[in-house]
Amino acid sequence: MLRNFKRALVTGGAGFIGSHIVEELLAEGLEVVSVDNYFAGKHENLAPFKDYDSFSEVECDVTDYEGLKPHFEGVDLVFHEAASKKTICLNDPRRDLDINAKGAFNILELSRDCGVKKVVHASTGSVYGEAQYLPQDEKHPLNPTSYYGVSKLAGERYARTFFELYGLDVTILRYFHVYGPRQDSSEVGGVVSIFGRRAMRNQPIHIFGDGTQQRSFTYVKDLVAINKLVATHPGTAGEVYNCASGIKVTIQELAEGVLAALGKQDLEIEYQDWTPGDIKVFDVDNSKIQALGFSFETDFQAGLARTLDSLKE
Ligand SMILES: NC(=O)c1ccc[n+]([C@@H]2O[C@H](COP(=O)([O-])OP(=O)(O)OC[C@H]3O[C@@H](n4cnc5c(N)ncnc54)[C@H](O)[C@@H]3O)[C@@H](O)[C@H]2O)c1
Repeated sequence: MLRNFKRALVTGGAGFIGSHIVEELLAEGLEVVSVDNYFAGKHENLAPFKDYDSFSEVECDVTDYEGLKPHFEGVDLVFHEAASKKTICLNDPRRDLDINAKGAFNILELSRDCGVKKVVHASTGSVYGEAQYLPQDEKHPLNPTSYYGVSKLAGERYARTFFELYGLDVTILRYFHVYGPRQDSSEVGGVVSIFGRRAMRNQPIHIFGDGTQQRSFTYVKDLVAINKLVATHPGTAGEVYNCASGIKVTIQELAEGVLAALGKQDLEIEYQDWTPGDIKVFDVDNSKIQALGFSFETDFQAGLARTLDSLKE
């Protein structure tokens, strides 16, 4: 029961996934503080929650230990979502390392020292790198092929170390291709939102590569439900879970699906160079999270329709 917690801190709360976690925690009756540096996060993502007395948002960078400290007062539950984006890592890998490794370290150290009862740490499927076998389960070798994957792996290894050294109750969730309302639709955003935004503006859809790359899309509300589940489920301390719906969609199928849903099949799809380090196939074993009693509720067409509707708004 989330009711066993009183006050939650969500880093990256003004971002896509963080803002959905904030929304759910408030609905559950918790006090919530969002911590974000607004590099990618938007005040408008949190605007619907401004009227809650139980909600506050602070502008703070997760690399700033002293700045973070006062905001941990009374906090007993932490969701660490703040991260530098994959697309930004290529431009500034040092900053990426700072945010994803040192930022995670700060959050874990403060959680340990301030009596936080549970930390849920957002990681990524990018820690696996190119698949050595499929489907990839949590025991798959970790050979990240991008700065982002390396720095996120450092973050989750710190999480595991705080569990082993200090018994901090932390659970690591590896996300894969999350999509839904409030996802950034700029060119550095999520592919579903980018395709939707371009099609709505009658601009051609750009595919990097030939479109055969396969993704495992997960609707954001299912991901929020996983965050809630591991926050309360006994036996998740120190554990790692793949969080992917198991739905397999190629980027070509996604582009065609977006165009069909919007009735814009005549729009062009343009093929460009592959992105360096792009992983061709994601086929993810999600049986470990399902063994906790979790089932993914949202099918891809329904999730896509809700995402496209939110873009129209
Ligand atoms: N969206 C996905 O498909 C996906 C896939 C795998 C992993 N993840 C992970 O999920 C988490 C949330 O991602 P998202 O998709 O919501 O991205 P997002 O960019 O929408 O949200 C990240 C938030 O973190 C904030 N942030 C960045 N650097 C910060 C810093 N130094 N200090 C404080 N705040 C900072 C940003 O302003 C933003 O609001 C991240 O940890 C990401 O690595 C996401």
